[in-house]
Amino acid sequence: MSPIRFLPNFRVSSHFLVCWIVLSCFPGFISSAIVTLDSVVIFKTHEWLEKPTFYFQCQGENMTVIPDVKKTHVLYTFKGEESWQPLTEIAVKKCKRCGFYEKDSIKSDDVFDEWEFCLSDFIASDGKYVHFKNKEFNATFLCPECIPLQKASDHTTGSHDGGKGVHLVLVIMVSALVSIVSVLAVVAVYKYWQKRKREQDQARFLKLFEDGDDIEDELAL
Ligand SMILES: *[C@@H]1O[C@H](CO)[C@@H](O)[C@H](O)[C@H]1NC(C)=O
Ligand SMILES: *[C@@H]1O[C@H](CO)[C@@H](O)[C@H](O)[C@H]1NC(C)=O
Repeated sequence: MSPIRFLPNFRVSSHFLVCWIVLSCFPGFISSAIVTLDSVVIFKTHEWLEKPTFYFQCQGENMTVIPDVKKTHVLYTFKGEESWQPLTEIAVKKCKRCGFYEKDSIKSDDVFDEWEFCLSDFIASDGKYVHFKNKEFNATFLCPECIPLQKASDHTTGSHDGGKGVHLVLVIMVSALVSIVSVLAVVAVYKYWQKRKREQDQARFLKLFEDGDDIEDELAL
């Protein structure tokens, strides 16, 4: 590899490194991950007359028609790069209500299943999550970012708790220090006041003597 070709690559990788460091220091910045449909099998169709239109939808979002899925008991697998992918985006600690449906030309659309779609369901190390509904479908979703994201969010909450602990210790130490300093200051002021009083008493006593001497002197005269 020539140095000229190597240099831009190096810059790209160092940018990537900086991004990675920034993102790992502030995992709160990245709080959602992209989910794709990995595979699906449908066990029945609700439409009898025409070919079914099978789609996925999350509440408040656009529907995603999965164009190829037409036959039952056929495993359809996807690359994740299809024109209609990704399926949706999912946030940490915020599930979405999503489902698979089939368009119905006469009445309202038929529901295969509707469930809470959560990032925490992606627990397998390969980033896959299977949702199976008996006699309806079996779908596998893919989200490789989901597990690192969950770990990152656990890490942040953990360090937040740690931060609280450190904060508390600091508060206790500072208050203890302030109390000690105030007590010492009060003692010092009291000592100083005692010393001043003793000196004043002594001075007054001596003055009394001097006055006495003066009187004696006068008497002697
Ligand atoms: C939904 O679809 C419309 C039109 O196709 C598009 O303008 C809009 O941005 C989409 N909304 C979302 C949330 O993807
Ligand atoms: C659903 O599909 C996945 C992947 O194709 C498979 O591993 C799993 O065993 C299936 N589950 C059922 C209940 O059919």
